Amino acid sequence: MKIEIRGTTRVAGLMGWPVRHSRSPQLHGYWLAEHGIDGAYVPLPVEPTRLETALRALPALGFIGVNITVPHKASALSLVDRVNPIARRAGAVNTVVVQPDGTLEGRNTDAFGFLAALEQDAPQWQADRPAVVLGAGGSARAVIVALIDAGLTEIRVINRTRAKAEALQELGPSVRVIEWDKRSAALDGAGLVVNTTTLGMAGQPALELDLRALPGDAVVNDIVYSPLETPLLSTARGRGNPVVDGLGMLLHQARPAFHAFFGLDPTVTPALRTYVLGN
Ligand code: ATR
Repeated sequence: MKIEIRGTTRVAGLMGWPVRHSRSPQLHGYWLAEHGIDGAYVPLPVEPTRLETALRALPALGFIGVNITVPHKASALSLVDRVNPIARRAGAVNTVVVQPDGTLEGRNTDAFGFLAALEQDAPQWQADRPAVVLGAGGSARAVIVALIDAGLTEIRVINRTRAKAEALQELGPSVRVIEWDKRSAALDGAGLVVNTTTLGMAGQPALELDLRALPGDAVVNDIVYSPLETPLLSTARGRGNPVVDGLGMLLHQARPAFHAFFGLDPTVTPALRTYVLGN
């Protein structure tokens, strides 16, 4: 794939600290090349103490926008000029769009990405059954916002630190907190299970979850994508449950950002998955 930077090239990027392991530059670069767009998407390593300076420099430098990743997502919320309602509810900004007047608008595309991945990879998923969400960090918040907007009336939130799960009840009356020790029993009758904890990630202990109470047709989704097949997904697959890995959310959350930057809604294809995994 040949990318040519010209004087006319529109530039977007990714602010994080560090950013060297991010797949976003390859991902956006793939779509730019696929559609022959005169654009570029560059890594922008920004130290936490310099986030405000870096964001304020965007209009001066002619950037069309940036994505925001760890550890800046929550701090960006208070540094931009305007925050859209989804980002406000998600408590985090992962996309900043430079407006024509030079102001900065903060958005969050994680909730969209989560739901779009679920709909693409497990279209049989049913929103009229309870969901179980494990974890109560930033990712859990975005997942819960998506599930509320999808119309779920019962979302069982389970976290090691109960107080963090309780804080998520402000998102809506469908959020129900269950004790961490009762997580296996809480799977009873669920149509969806989402792991948003870091358990199961490479180098981390596996998530201990007994799936016996889980209906055989419930979808099991792990937003961890390294490894792609976590112990949770492999156990679920072994008993016949449909599974959704974490790569889909990563790829789909980039779509609204790409659209905001370059004016086109790109598609997530098997070829893209292979490309991102191989790079
Ligand atoms: P993210 O922004 O990706 O959601 P995070 O905010 O660091 O990441 O959240 C990590 C989640 O994994 C939290 O829900 C955390 O539980 P606590 O709130 O109790 O810390 C969960 N987690 C991490 N290590 C865990 C462990 N060993 N056992 C249980 N939960 C764990």
